[in-house]
Formats: sequence, C-alpha cells, structure tokens
Amino acid sequence: MSGIIGIIGGSGFYSLDVNSDIDADSLSTPYSESPVTFYKSQVSEIPVIFLPRHGDEHATPPHKVNYRANLWALKEKEVRVIIAVNVVGGITKNMAPGTLVIPNQLIDYTWGREHTFFDTFNNEAVGENHVDFTWPYDEAMRKIIIQSAKTRHQSVHTSAVYGCTQGPRLESAAEICRLKQDGCDIVGMTGMPEAALARELGVPYVSVALVVNWAAGLTSESISFAEITATLDSGISEVKEIIVDALPELHQLIEN
Ligand code: HPA
Repeated sequence: MSGIIGIIGGSGFYSLDVNSDIDADSLSTPYSESPVTFYKSQVSEIPVIFLPRHGDEHATPPHKVNYRANLWALKEKEVRVIIAVNVVGGITKNMAPGTLVIPNQLIDYTWGREHTFFDTFNNEAVGENHVDFTWPYDEAMRKIIIQSAKTRHQSVHTSAVYGCTQGPRLESAAEICRLKQDGCDIVGMTGMPEAALARELGVPYVSVALVVNWAAGLTSESISFAEITATLDSGISEVKEIIVDALPELHQLIEN
C-alpha cells in the first residue's frame, strides 16, 4: 500500500464509518507498554488508517494520551499525512458552538506530557533536534480540507489560533481571558504535543476542529456536558464527510 492517509479521531469520533472492510490491527512501540490499536480501510481505493486518540474504549484522558506511541505507530505504518480531529471550546466571538475551524496557529499551555522524540541530543546533527515549527499545520493540506468544507457549504473558519490546555478539567474564566489576550480563538486539550511530534517525524499534519461550547466565562452559565454532547453529535458526521471528500486530493498530494 502506498500513500496511506492517517486520521486521528478524538471525542465523538471513534470510527470512520465507511462502506468498506475495516481491519483492526495493533503495533508495539518503543514508547508504550501495550500496543497501539488502529483500523485500516480503503475509502474509494485510498488506503486510510484510523487511530482513536483516546484508545479503543475512549478511556485515556487528554493528559494521559500516549501521543508519542500513537504518532510513532502511524509513521511506522507508512502514513504520509495526518488529519487530526479536535473538539474545542470557542473563545473569540465568531467561534460559536457548531463552528468548524481549520486552525493555522497554536499556543501550547500543556505541561508534563511526553512531548518530543528527541530526548537525547544528537550532537552530530544538532539542527535536527530543533525542528522548525513556525507554521504548525501543513498549508497544502489545510487548503484541501478548507476547499472540501466549503464545497459542502459548511461555514468554516480558515485561520485561528488553537490554545492547548492541560485538562482534563475545563478552564477557569480568568484562564480563558488570558488565552484570549494571548490571541487564542479556540481552546482544546489534545492538539499538543501531537502536532509537534508529527513535525518531528516529518509527517504533514492538519487539524479539523469542531467548536462544541463557549469557553468558560463567556456566557452567564456554566459549561453543560449535555450541550457539548448535542453539538458534538450533530457536528461530527459533517466533519467525517468533509474528511472523506478531501481524501482523493490528499491522496494526490502525497502521490505527487
Ligand atoms: N476547553 C478545553 N477543551 C475543550 C473545551 C473547552 O472549553 N471544549 C471542548 N474541549
């Protein structure tokens, strides 16, 4: 199989639901005690690997996800590009629940996560330890996903700053004020270190983010899990369709 496309699913997105055979597989990695499980399928003859970020049972919270094992497994399986799905809170005023966002920047507020493959310095090639991360998301992939979203008439925000917090608790109102002042448009818990690890492995990476709630302190009410779940249920099928529609162009991108 050449040119495999990797999809990392998050909350509410546990399988690709395609009309083709799906093979469960797993791989032992140097970064995890247990193997990483993923699902192989062909969508219109395009090979795809789907990896549920939080594990098969959706049991691993954002700060405990083994991002290194997940990314290493995808690279080892010859995944050439990665589409990551992230569920987020909206901060700036055009980021209402239900909005779809293809972020172009991020700020990392996480701590204590295993966040790099370069734990020992390679003095022979020092530069390789310090990957360029000026633009965390791959621009060619972003264009393809944005086009796919627009074709489906989905209102889509084509640039946004994703603030990644540690979780699993939601933020305080003051923390959201700070993120807003920093320039964050949306807030989630899973975007990092995933994006940086993909960069370290040299795998182009894009995020498709679905806003499911107003971030803390932006409305007079506290954040309701029922509201999050309802927005997630209605939005995630559209996210899947947008991704499936984008696969042929993404496939062409990696075959060229
Ligand atoms: N904050 C952090 N992560 C999130 C949120 C939020 O408000 N909503 C969904 N994921």
